[in-house]
Amino acid sequence: MGRLSVDLCGIEIDNPVIPASGTFGFGYEFSEWYDINRLGTFSFKGTTQHPRYGNPTPRIAECTSGMLNSVGLQNPGVDMVISEELPRLKSCFHKPVIANISGFSLEEYEFVARLLSEEAQVGWLEINISCPNVHGGGMSFGTDPKAAASVTEAVRKVTDKPVIMKLSPNVTDIVSIAKACEDAGADGISLINTLQGMRIDLKSRKPVLANTTGGLSGPAIFPVALRMVWQVSHAVRIPVIGMGGITSAEDVLEMMMAGASAVQVGAANLVNPYACLEIIEQLPSVMDRLHIHTLRELIEELACLRSKQAVNGH
Ligand code: FUM
Repeated sequence: MGRLSVDLCGIEIDNPVIPASGTFGFGYEFSEWYDINRLGTFSFKGTTQHPRYGNPTPRIAECTSGMLNSVGLQNPGVDMVISEELPRLKSCFHKPVIANISGFSLEEYEFVARLLSEEAQVGWLEINISCPNVHGGGMSFGTDPKAAASVTEAVRKVTDKPVIMKLSPNVTDIVSIAKACEDAGADGISLINTLQGMRIDLKSRKPVLANTTGGLSGPAIFPVALRMVWQVSHAVRIPVIGMGGITSAEDVLEMMMAGASAVQVGAANLVNPYACLEIIEQLPSVMDRLHIHTLRELIEELACLRSKQAVNGH
């Protein structure tokens, strides 16, 4: 067991730095840059029942310390993911992968989850109930505890693999949604997805994005993500995967100190394809500087502290 290894909902991974869905394709695209087996795992592009072309362009707008996207869940659909993307991935990645699943109805979540759960290389199902860029699905399931619980239950009943619910920050009470997912059978919570935002072009006086609004990611959202990871990890007993604006090994450790058992890195991959690898390489020296021997010890120590605080009513 290495110094960086962590437990992700019952499966050991070599390190906690996980490329986030939507920023790493289906993985093999990045194997042109480096050996992606250096990663513990990654989360592949959100997959729906049918192929989706996504939203009209422009879909991307740059911001200070971040970016807006409104991709609209472009993906080849679950059949193509199973027949083409996963076999291609198998040739260059020899570890379990996280299947990210999106949907527009409970039946769709259930259908896609059942099919992907049968794939040997799929280790975890990450259920996206937080996409802010589509109408009638995505985030609408993640902004209400009852709806979030219904999706969790629908997926839970078709798989024995760990189910991780990916939550939206565009809510007033993130804790109630995380708890509803835990009570409905989730094995883990990942957060945060992007924050809804928009930009206007001064010359045309019109929104920059064709979809008007998009999701903000990048370093600008790190403090918001950290606050939500802190709140959720103090309220649930299942592992929390922190994401939102992480760009360095220091950010990873800060997320862990907020309660995360692992982290996902998103926007940074779009700026620098080596971002995750560089963070993994930086971790040991930053841990030395902070007198952290292993990540497992850090995570366990913090979990212990949280349960003591809960007993004492803090
Ligand atoms: O628009 C998109 O494909 C983004 C998805 C998400 O943020 O979950």
